[in-house]
Amino acid sequence: MNLSGDFLVIGSGIAGLRAALSLAGAGEVIVLTKADPRESNTGYAQGGIAAALGPDDSPELHARDTIAAGDGLCEPAAVDVLVREGPRYVRELIEWGVAFDVDAEGRPALGREAAHSVRRVLHARDASGRELGRLLWSRVSTTPRIKVLDDALATQLLMSGGCCDGVAYVNTRGEQGLVRAGRTLLATGGAGQVFRETTNPAVATGDGLAMAARAGASIGDIEFVQFHPTALSVEGAPRFLLSEALRGEGARILNEAGEAFVARYEPAGDLASRDLVARAIVREVERTGSRVYLSMAHLDPDFIRRRFPTIAQACAHAGLDLTRDRIPVSPAAHYVMGGIDTDLDGRTSIPHLFAAGEVACTGVHGANRLASNSLLEGLVFGARAAEAMRGPIRAAALRHGEVVRHAPPQPEATQVPDEFAVRDLMWRDAGLLRARGSLERAVAQLERWAGAAEAARPARAGDHGFRRVGSLVTVGLLIARAALRREESRGGHFRTDFPALDDLHWKRHVSDVLTT
Ligand code: FAD
Ligand code: SIN
Repeated sequence: MNLSGDFLVIGSGIAGLRAALSLAGAGEVIVLTKADPRESNTGYAQGGIAAALGPDDSPELHARDTIAAGDGLCEPAAVDVLVREGPRYVRELIEWGVAFDVDAEGRPALGREAAHSVRRVLHARDASGRELGRLLWSRVSTTPRIKVLDDALATQLLMSGGCCDGVAYVNTRGEQGLVRAGRTLLATGGAGQVFRETTNPAVATGDGLAMAARAGASIGDIEFVQFHPTALSVEGAPRFLLSEALRGEGARILNEAGEAFVARYEPAGDLASRDLVARAIVREVERTGSRVYLSMAHLDPDFIRRRFPTIAQACAHAGLDLTRDRIPVSPAAHYVMGGIDTDLDGRTSIPHLFAAGEVACTGVHGANRLASNSLLEGLVFGARAAEAMRGPIRAAALRHGEVVRHAPPQPEATQVPDEFAVRDLMWRDAGLLRARGSLERAVAQLERWAGAAEAARPARAGDHGFRRVGSLVTVGLLIARAALRREESRGGHFRTDFPALDDLHWKRHVSDVLTT
């Protein structure tokens, strides 16, 4: 089926849905989403959404924490937009009826998470994303000028005269179609599935990043991937996230001997920023040869069951009692800080193409994202992109940084890998701890696979499995190349051969562009 509209939004997470609501006042909106409209990273978010609403908080303090977590690479203008506009958009959600937990006075109850200097996180028990998704979807699905096309996997941006004018898509029956629109927003979320161990659901394959890269968009800071320290680590069970909010309420990370070890590596202990805690866990596992655990056994079990029912249930499925047992944990890929370079209004380097949410790189997170700033980013920058899409087309005012150009992959007569080979390679060679040797190996292998995918693309246009692998290879190669290039350690990017921060050479953004 071919369709056309004024605005095309690809993705139905917080960024896409919030944008669609603003666009509906200005024309016909088509929302394209590859699975059920409620399936997204947004729906799995646990901890909540950060906003400076507490009596002891301010946008300035929120900015300070965000910039400290970002390890020298946050864009101050983007952070300023996030922290100043965030409270307004969060209040709007409250007016629309989002069911955040409240305190005895009926004010939003604020949770605590790592690297926040005050309680700042609005939440709906431990299923905050599900509640946000419910609210936004209930509005989008009843807004007359928004048409939602589900089971529609966007595969390629349509380009005309150097501008984007829509997208090609395919459904699970292999039927293909085109959607044409004057303005297109990529809100396709993250790429955690690029790594073998991830907290992300199956839809998070980085398709938007891959499509934009193949169309020649500028992709920034893509070496910066966040590895969450505490995913459930039980053989055969999914890497279910054990929210940082657990530690915010007093959970401790223990080694096999029952010692709270993180403070030996990081002065801030269990509530240090995620990259630091994740690496402390890896070092302790190496030191002891044993696993590490999250424990809440010293806390009130009724409180734990009330506040964290979803996590308690996931642990129960794995045969563990969150209130009593030590829960085995290990790090897992969680969030991609880099993405499609945008200005503060979601404009990308390709005219008529916008991006918002996890797929975009506004610079707001720098080298490492502060917990619970991602839902806020999707909300604020989704709304801002929609405002810009309603207005006249202007060139993007992208931040300054180095741009590295790469030739597109040349078709190669090798076999297209299965997705597990790609994910395994990325986890082993381009994961939490990186070094030149393994990264060079990864880049060489991914280049061959990218060539194989290029050769196979025309014949396998309608094949979902192939499309999935194609995205993983494209995004994996972008990450591995950028990680090899950055010879320092900063935020989520840690090089064992360059373990120190090197501000003199590397306190800068680097973007990649595939020539078309
Ligand atoms: P998503 O919510 O991921 O939505 C992307 C959409 O695009 C989906 O609908 C997907 O199906 C669709 N899509 C993708 N590719 C295509 C394609 N090719 N064609 C069509 N549609 C496509 N952040 C916080 O701030 N607070 C938290 O508490 C928090 N907890 C988290 C817990 C977990 C387990 C995870 C995985 C993430 C968490 N995050 C949290 C991060 C946060 O949830 C995400 O970064 C955020 O929701 C991203 O929103 P988004 O709208 O950009 O993308
Ligand atoms: C968590 O609840 O630990 C995840 C929060 C986030 O990713 O911001």
